Amino acid sequence: MDWSLAVTIGAALLAIFFLFLRLTRPRGHRLPPGNLGLPLVGETLQLISAYKSANPEPFIDERVTRYGPLFTTHVFGEPTVFSADPETNRYILQNEGKLFECSYPGSISNLLGRHSLLLMKGNLHKKMHSLTMSFGNSSIIKDHLLLDIDRLIRFNMDSWTSRILLMEEAKKITFDLTVKQLMSFDPGEWTESLRKEYVLVIEGFFTVPFPLFSATYRRAIQARTKVAEALNLVVRERRKAKEEGEEEKKNDMLAALLDSGDNFSDEQIVDFILALLVAGYETTSTIMTLAIKFLTETPLALAQLREEHDEIRARISDPNVLEWSDYKSMPFTQCVVNETLRVANIIGGIFRRVTTDIHVKGYTIPKGWKVFASFRAVHLDHEYFKDARTFNPWRWQNNSGPTVPGSGVNVFTPFGGGPRLCPGYELARVVLSVFLHRMVTRYSWAPAEEDKLVFFPTTRTQKRYPINVERRKVSSAAEKGEG
Ligand code: HEM
Ligand SMILES: *[C@@H]1O[C@H](CO)[C@@H](O)[C@H](O)[C@H]1NC(C)=O
Ligand SMILES: *[C@@H]1O[C@H](CO)[C@@H](O)[C@H](O)[C@H]1NC(C)=O
Ligand SMILES: *[C@@H]1O[C@H](CO)[C@@H](O)[C@H](O)[C@H]1NC(C)=O
Ligand SMILES: *[C@@H]1O[C@H](CO)[C@@H](O)[C@H](O)[C@H]1NC(C)=O
Repeated sequence: MDWSLAVTIGAALLAIFFLFLRLTRPRGHRLPPGNLGLPLVGETLQLISAYKSANPEPFIDERVTRYGPLFTTHVFGEPTVFSADPETNRYILQNEGKLFECSYPGSISNLLGRHSLLLMKGNLHKKMHSLTMSFGNSSIIKDHLLLDIDRLIRFNMDSWTSRILLMEEAKKITFDLTVKQLMSFDPGEWTESLRKEYVLVIEGFFTVPFPLFSATYRRAIQARTKVAEALNLVVRERRKAKEEGEEEKKNDMLAALLDSGDNFSDEQIVDFILALLVAGYETTSTIMTLAIKFLTETPLALAQLREEHDEIRARISDPNVLEWSDYKSMPFTQCVVNETLRVANIIGGIFRRVTTDIHVKGYTIPKGWKVFASFRAVHLDHEYFKDARTFNPWRWQNNSGPTVPGSGVNVFTPFGGGPRLCPGYELARVVLSVFLHRMVTRYSWAPAEEDKLVFFPTTRTQKRYPINVERRKVSSAAEKGEG
């Protein structure tokens, strides 16, 4: 008889029993209703199997119908309060750092590095968040980044032959862009070998919830060391050049960090840069891929989008230069961008830890508990979006997104909000818009195979979206403009 096992199970049952008592305490002092599922695993397996399918919604729908938009569950090893309520979500986002704090599993923290923005807290986080925000703000994109974005998108497209895996191409584009923006490197051998190692690091993030048993995770940790060494070399060289006064003025994130007057160590800078590389990579490339997938499946929207971009192309004098004013004259594209973000929900929501007892909507969430603010549940709620589960970019045409009646709380939060609002929110929109411009004006395409969406461990299509692309003959609209 294995006593330690018996004791563990006994303790787990006792813990569940006390949780049950808490769940049944009188209203006002009780947890949101819910079901903790099996001991230890809770409802993790139900969650994972739902999110591995093309339609994960029933997992949330069933619980919202039974318990309301705030319910208790037990996932990834801990009891968790799940919010499908926009007002509660806003409360969680806005009170980050006061009543809630972000919390990642140790395996993720190790991959990110302890000086990454995602793990920072308090004043340091505040300062570095605002530095990152200003680095990605619209005036920087307008004056510096837009040209690079467009150039690197075209550069990558130039190598396309008939059949491509769109997700892979989008990842190359995103990586090249981020490296350029952070450290001013153009694509070449160095970036390609960095990318090979980097891809291994990324795989490590998706070994959750069982990283320690995973060879992929161990490989990711090793690859992280290599990537960090390569970045470290760059930081050292740039620092040296700066000290010797040799540096030509560069307009990248690394220059901003070296110039910031905060005397950051090399390790701090490397962690910081690596985290930015991670945060924008899967997110941006997935949104590029899914926009094309949704458009392919909605031919009317694709036709209207193409019309908008053919007109721009016909109007501009140099078809290879897209200006800020062109970006600003893509109204239907912005509808497509919003609708893609809404339906795809790349970041489906955010986990936070409660730092003190929280009273919300007549319930109490005890200190130390986890909460999950689900953006996905709100974005796909029929109460806020008519026919919420269909891709319909036209819904954005006459309004900029619904709010909760009465409180006026915004229900559309693909980039989060509050102190941790995504610093890449504008950049991601611009990259997607420029990508769509080049894609629809240059190519027509058709899916090469049937491909399916899944949502665990991240939102992605199973086969990386294989398509056959074909160069378009110059469209009639463009011909008129050029003639
Ligand atoms: C479609 C693309 C993107 C989506 C949907 C997205 C979404 C999000 C969300 C929801 C958060 C909040 C996380 C939280 O509150 O815990 C976030 C944070 C963050 N994002 Fe993005 N993001 C995207 C692209 C980017 C890009 C391109 C960058 C790089 C410049 C970036 C950098 C970051 C960073 C550094 C954070 C952490 C901020 C902090 O903790 O203070 N993201 N993102
Ligand atoms: C963007 O950030 C820069 C500093 O990096 C600042 O000078 C500029 O005023 C900011 N622009 C906007 C529109 O916030
Ligand atoms: C910056 O940091 C280095 C080493 O960490 C230290 O020697 C130096 O005095 C610091 N400089 C300032 C201005 O804080
Ligand atoms: C938006 O408004 C225009 C004119 O005001 C109207 O023709 C169109 O049908 C409206 N679109 C939607 C989706 O409501
Ligand atoms: C897209 O969503 C943003 C909020 O994230 C909103 O400000 C903007 O007006 C929306 N754009 C359109 C075209 O509806």
